[in-house]
Amino acid sequence: MPAISATAPGKTILFGEHAVVYGRPAIAAPVSQVRARAIVSADPRGMSGAVLVQAPDVGLEAYLDELAENHPLGQAIRGTLAALGVKRLPACTVRVNSTIPVAAGLGSGAAVSVAIIRAVANFAGGALPDETISALAYQVDLLYHGTPSGIDNTVITYARPVYFVRGQPIQMLKLPEPFTIVIGDTGVQSPTSAAVGDVHSAWQADTGRFEQLFDEVGRIAWAARLAIEAGRPQELGELMDENHALLYDMGVSSPELEQLVWAARVAGAQGAKLCGGGRGGNMIALVDVTQAQAVAQNLAQNGAVRTIITTIQSPDDSIVWRG
Ligand code: PMV
Repeated sequence: MPAISATAPGKTILFGEHAVVYGRPAIAAPVSQVRARAIVSADPRGMSGAVLVQAPDVGLEAYLDELAENHPLGQAIRGTLAALGVKRLPACTVRVNSTIPVAAGLGSGAAVSVAIIRAVANFAGGALPDETISALAYQVDLLYHGTPSGIDNTVITYARPVYFVRGQPIQMLKLPEPFTIVIGDTGVQSPTSAAVGDVHSAWQADTGRFEQLFDEVGRIAWAARLAIEAGRPQELGELMDENHALLYDMGVSSPELEQLVWAARVAGAQGAKLCGGGRGGNMIALVDVTQAQAVAQNLAQNGAVRTIITTIQSPDDSIVWRG
């Protein structure tokens, strides 16, 4: 039996992170220059049910039976089998690789889950609908942090720009006018769970103030949606700046993120903000396509360990340049 492979893109949150956990809208888009890949190959001499899981990026090589109940990769495989009603897989190896930086706000955990779920389902002979794939990936995300909004698994499963409100049906965004963003990586790993946990403590300590911050973010995400769908992406720069200021007030920026946001703006970006959980990880900047290289260069000169230039468009994004 030939090996079965599946991939899933990274993602960036254009507007609304953190507030989305508290029911406000957010906008996210796939980033296809970075991807997770899962390959399932049959082990013809292995015993039925022996599933070897290999994730060389994180030094993991273990049989599925040896993985703890709450191991994310184990949960992705077991959840898939349960959804298909399959008790045992034929002996096989599930190998996972990813070029998405870990704990960096680009959705690496959800992308790994989606790639595994698709590959294992196809290997087991069943195709799962996107809705089920997204729901299974959400279950895995629950292990990474207790209160995921569901935006990561949604945008990564459907691989399209989305307007997302927790608990509501997904709304795919139409983009009459594509736009370009530069993504800059601080190189600082920052688990989403820590930032989400700190925001939660701060919200508990001063609920009124945080509800106001979240309302402001929600208003920005809504305004951004109107601008995107009206084909006026040039309005997004100012909205990004406003969103970043609110994330700063929530306490999820960092000196490295501030440096990169500043570097993007002085190099000619129309606006910039941190993206994802914050405290490290990545930021994004809206640019005119002619300014993209200059902004990427200035980010690199100010500490970015990697920059990606990507076009946000519907239905898929496309590679412009990667440095
Ligand atoms: O850091 P990431 O890429 O996992 O993005 C998290 C986005 C948050 O809004 C901070 C959390 C969530 O579950 O929506």
